[in-house]
Amino acid sequence: MTWTPASWRELHANQQPDWPDTGELEAVLKTLSGYPPLVFAGEARSLQAALGTVAQGRAFLLQAGDCAESFDSFNANSIRERLRLILQMAVILTYSAGVPVVKVGRIAGQFAKPRSSPNETIDGTSLPSFRGHIVNDIAFNAEARTADPHRLVQAYHQSAATLNLLRAFTRGGFADLRRVHAWNQEFVSESPEGARYEQLARSIDRALRFMAACGLDTDTVPSLHETDVFTSHEALILGYEEALTRQDSLTGDWYDCSAHMVWLGERTRELDGAHVEFFRGIHNPVGCKIGPNATPDDVLGLCEALNPERVPGRLTLITRMGKDVVRSALPPLLNAVRDAGHPVVWACDPMHGNTFTSQSGRKTRDFDDILDEIAGFFSAHREAGTWPGGVHVELTSDDVTECLGGGEAILDDHLTLRYETMCDPRLNGRQSLDLAFRVAELLHARA
Ligand code: PEP
Ligand code: CO
Repeated sequence: MTWTPASWRELHANQQPDWPDTGELEAVLKTLSGYPPLVFAGEARSLQAALGTVAQGRAFLLQAGDCAESFDSFNANSIRERLRLILQMAVILTYSAGVPVVKVGRIAGQFAKPRSSPNETIDGTSLPSFRGHIVNDIAFNAEARTADPHRLVQAYHQSAATLNLLRAFTRGGFADLRRVHAWNQEFVSESPEGARYEQLARSIDRALRFMAACGLDTDTVPSLHETDVFTSHEALILGYEEALTRQDSLTGDWYDCSAHMVWLGERTRELDGAHVEFFRGIHNPVGCKIGPNATPDDVLGLCEALNPERVPGRLTLITRMGKDVVRSALPPLLNAVRDAGHPVVWACDPMHGNTFTSQSGRKTRDFDDILDEIAGFFSAHREAGTWPGGVHVELTSDDVTECLGGGEAILDDHLTLRYETMCDPRLNGRQSLDLAFRVAELLHARA
């Protein structure tokens, strides 16, 4: 079957909204297809090259951000704070483990959510499920839950403004390593995690002064003053992704210019489905979630479909097994992919296999379970002789109480205090720093 940006339309697409007026939808998509791309092919190629070094075991991937971005909490502060936390975590990993870190945000486009059921029923009333702000609103009434294609345009504009600010912050001095102290937020700096970070920041200061004293002109080394933070999201709403897919004038290849990297969710990765069809033709680096039921044949099929040329960095397999099964379910997949010679990046999503409903009725995750899955991921890779290439986490820099445990020992009773997520529970600022230190220790122990 020849590929076009629209060839997915011939196949069944899971998890698509029920748009009430397809004429209106197609008109909006036509408008979007005339708008400028959000990212450029050359940037996607740079990310793919960086991920290539991860696939070869020479760098580590940190992919992090919201479960679902919101149209309501869209402002400069929230973008800056999320970036700041990613920079802090990356610096912890780079300094403690001595490996370069490829930074990719779940940001500037992470709006659409797959749902386990198309409808939600409360007190006998059944309405369409909330599918993320790119589709509908979370309020439980018929108007809010009706899919509205104009939200696709709003998602585009919010992504553009978010990317604009990310580019400005990462290039314009905010990401300068001489500012490592300033990245520590007040409420975090008073905690043990924050103090540990301060200590690390002081060592970095000393290292910079040492280099300067040795006669190195650190002012002229760009990588000390600016950085790359790439964008990514689950490419779920295929009409939106198609509308932003453009042919690169330099190479003639097609790129999904809605983000640098896009990934396939656990619920949309069937080999004969519309999502895999769309993904096989775009030239961005792509990810695919891999859950506990995936067989070695499923995974090899995805490798062949998505990366037949075996380009290192093209394909990231994001495993989300759950802490109880990671040690048994992951090794057969690692061995199969290794033996087939596919150069993938292996990343660990320790969030989505460890979600449960607490006694108080909140959807949550326990920090210890999250760490346990990461530890299992590292030991499975050690056994298989493969590189534990990265982590993929849901977080916010805000002082939320959504995941249990961590340094301040969040308990079930605390979950209601600041439970702000629109979808899955996220790590807060302190839990995120703690996680970065633990991952750095695992990386260090491997070296
Ligand atoms: C997600 O990453 O938010 C998600 C829905 O993950 P998964 O597809 O792995 O369930
Ligand atoms: Co999620």
